Amino acid sequence: MNEKELVARHAANLVQNGMLVGLGTGSTANYFIQELANRHKEEGLQVTVAASSVVSTIKAQEMGLPLLALEHVSRLDLYVDGADEVTPDLTLLKGRGYDLVREKLMASASDKFIVLVDPTKLVDRIGARFPIPVEVMPFAWSLVKRRLESIGGSGGLRHTANKDGLVMTSHGSLVLDMAFDPALEAAALNAFLNETPGVVEHGIFRNLATVVFVAAEGRVQEHWAK
Ligand code: A5P
Repeated sequence: MNEKELVARHAANLVQNGMLVGLGTGSTANYFIQELANRHKEEGLQVTVAASSVVSTIKAQEMGLPLLALEHVSRLDLYVDGADEVTPDLTLLKGRGYDLVREKLMASASDKFIVLVDPTKLVDRIGARFPIPVEVMPFAWSLVKRRLESIGGSGGLRHTANKDGLVMTSHGSLVLDMAFDPALEAAALNAFLNETPGVVEHGIFRNLATVVFVAAEGRVQEHWAK
């Protein structure tokens, strides 16, 4: 069993009968969907899920998990997802994928948000390994970029892997991948991004994670929010 499977199983084992569970997006979230579906099928675990992306929706459907559209969800018992970076105070960076809006919405609407990572995701500060994804209204990208540059940001629009087009999110937004001065704290940057017109959503997830499960050397460590 690899590290992603290990944390995914650990999280799936916490799901109880009758829960409404939010499914994240990404390779780690995929393992969680698989583990949850195994329990549903083999143990008869009664669970309903809602997904944060089309990809996770399709996977949940294929695995036979009872699915609710997000439009019909007013709260969740649990939201389980991966992350790109995790700091010691459990601030997260997410959004290498294209579904930031739904991911943050579901993390916020959930009683508990469980984050699944391996030790390579643990960092001292947000932005240590990746630029900050900033999802913007298409017509606003240049103005938002200028505003972010005014506080020392640098970067640009995210291109497709073969560089022949721009990445568009599930909601038709563009993505600016922006790096900032390491001295700029995540709390301040989070506030600045929240207050920037034209920004639809961004990858800093503050005060949302309940617990982070980290797999290392065949064991799962639990880091609970204080
Ligand atoms: C999806 O938009 C992202 O936030 C992912 O949750 C994050 O990139 C982690 O992905 P992996 O589980 O594939 O590492």
